[in-house]
Amino acid sequence: MAQESCRLPDDFFFGAAMSGPQTEGRWRDGGKLENLWDTWSNLNITDFHNRVGSYAGNDFSSRRHEDLELLKSLGLTSMRTSIQWSRLLDADGNVNPEGAKYYHELFADAREVGLEVFVNLYHFDMPTHLFRRGGWESREVVEAYAHYATLAFRTFGKEIRHWFTFNEPIVEPEQRYTNGEWYPFIRNYARARAVQYNISLAHALAVREYRAAKEEGCLLDDSRIGLINCFTPPYTRENPSDADLEAVRMTDGVCNRWWLDLVTRGELPQDVISTLASRGIELPRRPEDDLILSDGKVDWLGCNYYHPERVQAPAADVDENGIPQFAQPYVWPEAEMNKSRGWEIYPQGLYDFAMKTRDEYPDLEWFVSENGMGIEREDLRKDESGVIQDDYRVDFVRRHLEWIARAIQDGAKCRGYHYWAVIDNWSWANAFKNRYGFVEVDLEDGYNRRPKKSAAWLKKVATTHVVD
Ligand code: FCB
Repeated sequence: MAQESCRLPDDFFFGAAMSGPQTEGRWRDGGKLENLWDTWSNLNITDFHNRVGSYAGNDFSSRRHEDLELLKSLGLTSMRTSIQWSRLLDADGNVNPEGAKYYHELFADAREVGLEVFVNLYHFDMPTHLFRRGGWESREVVEAYAHYATLAFRTFGKEIRHWFTFNEPIVEPEQRYTNGEWYPFIRNYARARAVQYNISLAHALAVREYRAAKEEGCLLDDSRIGLINCFTPPYTRENPSDADLEAVRMTDGVCNRWWLDLVTRGELPQDVISTLASRGIELPRRPEDDLILSDGKVDWLGCNYYHPERVQAPAADVDENGIPQFAQPYVWPEAEMNKSRGWEIYPQGLYDFAMKTRDEYPDLEWFVSENGMGIEREDLRKDESGVIQDDYRVDFVRRHLEWIARAIQDGAKCRGYHYWAVIDNWSWANAFKNRYGFVEVDLEDGYNRRPKKSAAWLKKVATTHVVD
């Protein structure tokens, strides 16, 4: 897009996205139980980049005041984090008073500096004791999540306005159950879809609990609930074959429409379920489920967007691990890549998602809940005064904001933008390999914070709403 300045609406908000397990640290303090990240770190620390496991996060718990001030000083007005299930509840499913105290204090501190907190309830952080009872493959755990959600709504109901049930519910089925990259390293497509299905039920049950809590006056009158997912519009080659289009349909169906239909219509896409069944993949459905899913409708949605998905017809029906294939990656010859992360940079994807939503789910309000650029070895990009020169980050965010501005002009109901992660944080098995922040966390210097060159630009945009 042309590089002229553009303007975002006055009520468009700018904020920071983060999560509990990637920032908090203090993994064993205050009665916190183990989650799967802690368990995996204990089992095999060499699986994590530079042997940095889940234990320290980015030291946010200790530096909370400083970090909140920092976010505010950058002109941001909101932040999203997650409550860790393994911190808020004890092993019997009761509120852990020390965990509750931690979050009460965090929310109060944020309010005091003038940051609105968006709370998400689950960010890939299954408590290990529940995983041992089947994790997302078990109905008992689905019920346990609904119970956790209701306790969270009732404990913090008068403090929080923006609630979310899940972040990227498509990721655990992929990373833990299909490609076996994350502990417990399972490769089983049918189990992955069962997990996806059960997470959908858990989402719907949580929304049901939320509505009940609201009805009873336990929540703020103007509170809202939503779901956050990574929506990556699937593209395919020019002049696609029918089989390529079929690959697009199933990729879109499993990764996007599944969630969009759930949160806008309270149902799952029938064509996807039929295709799965035709390949022998049956979901663990029960007669009462349709009623549960019908409660899955939300007030608005978060869209995490990093890269587009490009797919084509699969070369074979199953891969070398026996996993059914509905699509395989298509490498677009013109793709611009972020080499550190191996993700394509394609800002227009956000616009395309926005237009699809406008046309197919016209009442749906949403915001960009994550977008960001992770770069390896940023320490090599410091100037003489030690400040990381990250002009590429400015360029990346500017281009995405330009497409958002255009989408809004064209009728998209996009209300705000949260950057991931304003302050560098821990990224799962990649640990601190790729840095996303406008603010550096120096691991060699006690996790000290230091704004990068781009921070001044962010502040200007967030305070003026002019993107240039
Ligand atoms: C997203 C996750 C988030 C973070 C970014 C880089 O998929 O939601 O936790 O790791 O990727």
